Amino acid sequence: MGQTVLEMTGIKKSFSGFYALDGIDFSLELGEVHALLGENGAGKSTLIKVLGGIYQPDCGTIRIEGREVKVRNVTEARGNGIGIIHQEIVLVPYLTVAQNLFLGREIIKHGTVDMAETNRRATEMIASLGVNIRADAMVEDLTIAQQQMVEIVKAVSFDGRIIVMDEPTSSLSNEEVEQLFEIIARLKEKKVSIIYISHRMEELFCISDRVTVIRDGAYVGTRKTSETNANELVAMMVGRDLESFYARDFKDLSEAETAMEVKDLTCEGTFEHISFCVRKGEILGFAGLVGAGRSEIMESIFGARPYQSGEVVLNGKKVSFENPMQAIKAGIALVPEDRKKQGLVLGNSVAFNLTLASLRFYMNGIAISEKKKKTVIDSYFEKLRIKAASSEIEAGSLSGGNQQKVVLGKWLATKPDVLILDEPTRGVDVNAKFELYSVINELAKEGIAIIMVSSELPEIINMCDNVCVVREGRLTGFLSKDELSQEEIMKYAAGGVEA
Ligand SMILES: Nc1ncnc2c1ncn2[C@@H]1O[C@H](COP(=O)(O)OP(=O)(O)O)[C@@H](O)[C@H]1O
Ligand SMILES: [Mg+2]
Repeated sequence: MGQTVLEMTGIKKSFSGFYALDGIDFSLELGEVHALLGENGAGKSTLIKVLGGIYQPDCGTIRIEGREVKVRNVTEARGNGIGIIHQEIVLVPYLTVAQNLFLGREIIKHGTVDMAETNRRATEMIASLGVNIRADAMVEDLTIAQQQMVEIVKAVSFDGRIIVMDEPTSSLSNEEVEQLFEIIARLKEKKVSIIYISHRMEELFCISDRVTVIRDGAYVGTRKTSETNANELVAMMVGRDLESFYARDFKDLSEAETAMEVKDLTCEGTFEHISFCVRKGEILGFAGLVGAGRSEIMESIFGARPYQSGEVVLNGKKVSFENPMQAIKAGIALVPEDRKKQGLVLGNSVAFNLTLASLRFYMNGIAISEKKKKTVIDSYFEKLRIKAASSEIEAGSLSGGNQQKVVLGKWLATKPDVLILDEPTRGVDVNAKFELYSVINELAKEGIAIIMVSSELPEIINMCDNVCVVREGRLTGFLSKDELSQEEIMKYAAGGVEA
């Protein structure tokens, strides 16, 4: 082990009696990328806010290069060489990149800000990390990824020797993630130490040296990345054995009927030559890096995105949909990734949302049978164990996990033969994940053919019968259950690079 640059011990932080952090230990070596892993709500951001001087801990110590320090505010954090890229970006949108980089430490000449010099130095700073962004660009015109990079440049420019990135890839595309990883590699070369926060596992194996897992505000353990695997880390994150967490009853599918077959589907510039089939009762996974084109493939099957060639065969009949309504009628449902944008009307009731996609089933002529509708609402409310006082409550007031259950219920009410789930558990907590898995398992047992697009490898590995791996719009691998491992998947997903 190298030299320890940071040591946090016994950190506790409570909010009105509730312990968000209940005794966390964390240490960081010089030039190391140390991942901090934990489910949503585990306390990752809170720990980092303690380090960054945004919160004061109730107890515990912080040592930097062996010296105990108190970090009372952001300025003191900077003074200690700590730079944090928070989950919420805090650049000023209507200023330029250079102005943001020098905010609060403006270069003054003859009583005014020397813009030429500001731009010159900013350009230098940006170039030193190999970033390709103009110093005079307005921040509001930058992509989220570019804004993040500006934040990184800024953190380093304050002589940041400890850089913290809180869930940096949550809204980045594949290509942007690669750029970020290049910057991280460059920072390592400069002996900057990095705390990399994530609840997504696949990327940790690409970039981290060690991983520390926390759960419910408590320290669980630290592993060398090269000596652990996704299953061990998930077990640490969720705190129970995986067999019971991923409640999947696998059965022999060799006799199962084909529900849907996709042949040579091509949407130029987006995906090409996609062929696969999914059987009744099967869960077919779609793995790949963010931006690989998996969602787009599903949208095309669902009639939400045109394709140039290829065909979809559903229950033995060739189909092609001009819009999702036709796909739903034919028996396909798609639960989209971004439930807030596409899946749910947050201002309306749970009941309204549950019946939104299946209204035509309750029609008597042109009138709606309220009785039929009520039966459907009650049955899904119960079946999905939606936690709300009643189905009349606004969907927007539910937790992420329960919102996701409502979206799932909405599509199940259409009685699909093929159910496509796009990142079904993203952004929901451990307990909701556990419940979603058991619901998904029940649906497969009922004979629904399920396609599960997911970037979370443990979920793919533990829930799926077979897995298609997509890279840059092409199917690069097909793995059956007993061939599944995170290394195998990453090999196909990242293009031959062993994780
Ligand atoms: N300012 C706050 N006031 C009250 N509770 C908070 C506050 N910040 C975080 N929490 C709670 O502390 C827990 C940990 O949150 P957080 O650190 O954001 O988790 P993570 O970043 O791991 O998802 C959560 O239960 C959250 O609701
Ligand atoms: Mg967080």
